[in-house]
Amino acid sequence: MFRTFFIYLSKAAWARNIITGWNFAWRAASRFVAGETLEDAIRVIRQLNQKGINATLDHLGEHTTDLEFARRAAQEILQVLDAISLSGVRANVSIKLTQIGLSLDEGVCRENLQMILQKASALGNFIRIDMEDSPWVDTTLRLFNQMRHEQGFENVGIVIQSYLYRSEADIRHLSAACSRVRLCKGAYKEPQDVAYPRKADVDSSYDRLAQIMMDGALAAGCPALSLDGRLPPIIALATHDERRINFARRYARKIGLPKESLEFQMLYGIRRDLQEQLSKDGAPVRVYVPYGSEWYPYYVRRLAERPANLWFFISNFFRK
Ligand code: FDA
Repeated sequence: MFRTFFIYLSKAAWARNIITGWNFAWRAASRFVAGETLEDAIRVIRQLNQKGINATLDHLGEHTTDLEFARRAAQEILQVLDAISLSGVRANVSIKLTQIGLSLDEGVCRENLQMILQKASALGNFIRIDMEDSPWVDTTLRLFNQMRHEQGFENVGIVIQSYLYRSEADIRHLSAACSRVRLCKGAYKEPQDVAYPRKADVDSSYDRLAQIMMDGALAAGCPALSLDGRLPPIIALATHDERRINFARRYARKIGLPKESLEFQMLYGIRRDLQEQLSKDGAPVRVYVPYGSEWYPYYVRRLAERPANLWFFISNFFRK
């Protein structure tokens, strides 16, 4: 109930208008968002890099409602790539296709994506395409495959969500093609005919998919993280769930997958202790660092994941 209600709020324009008008809401959100500017984000990434942790930078935004805004969003992502290159930080970039026009015009979205990948390729960087809710999964995978196989971009990766029934088949195709995949549980409210409703099933699907990915990476010769921290290994496990992480590490040891071939990813502001502990243990760790003024839906999805975060939000109201 709690999760359903907050995921509804994350999409509701009326709630967005009210909540983003409260000063204390931004104070609460800034626990999960690096700041409003690119400079804020680069500063946060430098701090992470000093601890041996890499980053993936997300200029927040989704479901852009106007083609001109979608083109502008794509231009801003080019600026993000330039800023990473100029500052020398160990970071790549995550994007959402609805931010660059997917919900308006697939052709414009494709052009924007191609332009972003060309720029990233010229700068030796990598773009991860985030996965959004289930109506966008087919098109997102289609555009990813076009870029990777028809346009020949090696510097692009995709995300798969373990709560979807279809994900095992998707992972098998992607693993056979040595595609770089980030595995997460899934952050949206999905109907029961497309996604497992029970958390236990989402978790066991996560372990099963992680195993398939690890077997695939071993068969592909275990490509590792690049020296500059930008091109990730084939497998990225994005979760803060220690049980999932421990399961994957045990399985990796059992099959002889080198540590450098298995990246762990977590969100900015969540389980910093675990991020640092894994990194000290020699595992590649990457933190997802979002920034920008469009923080509302991202932040409310973080509230949906954990009821305790709501108390943190409320406590900010009482702080001066
Ligand atoms: P789970 O929800 O079971 O939580 C495990 C533990 O993690 C909790 O007990 C708690 O300690 C901690 N935790 C989790 N969420 C928290 C929160 N919000 N606040 C505080 N503590 C929290 N989703 C998607 O649909 N498409 C995508 O492209 C991505 N991309 C992505 C990138 C990265 C790097 C990460 C880490 C996650 C995503 N996600 C995502 C989000 C993902 O699908 C999922 O919603 C969250 O990671 C929460 O699930 P966990 O795997 O952490 O497990």
